[in-house]
Amino acid sequence: MTGHYSRQHLLAIAPLQRHEIESLLDLGNEYVDLNRQIQKKRDTLRGRTLINLFFEPSTRTQSSFELAGKRLGADVMNMSVAQSSVRKGETLIDTATTLNAMHPDIIVIRHQDSGAVALLADKVTCSVINAGDGAHEHPTQALLDALTIRRRMGRIEGLTVTIAGDVMHSRVARSNVHLLNKLGARVRLVAPRTLMPAGAGEWGAEIFNDMRHAITGADIVMMLRLQSERMTGSFLPSQREYFHFYGLDREKLALAKPGAFVMHPGPMNRGVEIDSAIADDIDRSLIHEQVEMGVAVRMAVLEALARQLPNDERKS
Ligand code: CP
Repeated sequence: MTGHYSRQHLLAIAPLQRHEIESLLDLGNEYVDLNRQIQKKRDTLRGRTLINLFFEPSTRTQSSFELAGKRLGADVMNMSVAQSSVRKGETLIDTATTLNAMHPDIIVIRHQDSGAVALLADKVTCSVINAGDGAHEHPTQALLDALTIRRRMGRIEGLTVTIAGDVMHSRVARSNVHLLNKLGARVRLVAPRTLMPAGAGEWGAEIFNDMRHAITGADIVMMLRLQSERMTGSFLPSQREYFHFYGLDREKLALAKPGAFVMHPGPMNRGVEIDSAIADDIDRSLIHEQVEMGVAVRMAVLEALARQLPNDERKS
């Protein structure tokens, strides 16, 4: 058995130890090969029930958890929050405990408030996976990003990774800084002053406001989406000006190491944080590979959590 993750939940990267992260990456790596075969099914989660409970929109995370669960043989239910009793005023906790009473084994939750998923994990008896909570963490995104980097570069230790854009509102940035630091990368964060959170200097990354300085010599340039849905005030003069200073185009990318790779968690705002010519450049962009790794990593996480469930015969 490759996996050595023995927690009930996956709520954040911050509390994890390096060996736990590496065990999930190793297991995810095994699933990449399975997912490329015609016969993709395993019965690892046969008899188990997985519920996707997403209070925010999602394409990649929700669909990849659904595929991951089904490929491992679980029964998967996608809860349609828009059509649920949340619309009638049911509270978050009542919704979660109601679903918990139906005996799911794992609930995957995305919520707009930081801390909401951890709160729910305390109220239910099943395992909980954080699929993104506010601007706090998105642990499976960081795991899939790490697997993508590790497969392309052969390592993470010693690489320089520049994370650029709307750091203020980004759970992806927070999870990635934690994970990349634990695996020995050198992490840089770059954003306009208005989009760099006050405490970012304590996360363990080098802080930049100048995009060109931050990209110079980088092995990986990870772009972040401008999250206008989380912006309550005016953070930028205009998107055009933002692209001029912070959007990734060929001229800025030329400052990175020769052959440096570009990543983006999606969904992308083309022409705002990234030029289409870069996003679609198959020699430089790992964006589709990130999506592929997302299914494999989520299969690994589901398997690791399933090992901790009661009556799992494979638990050692
Ligand atoms: N990266 C990511 O979380 O994408 P979705 O919002 O489509 O799930």
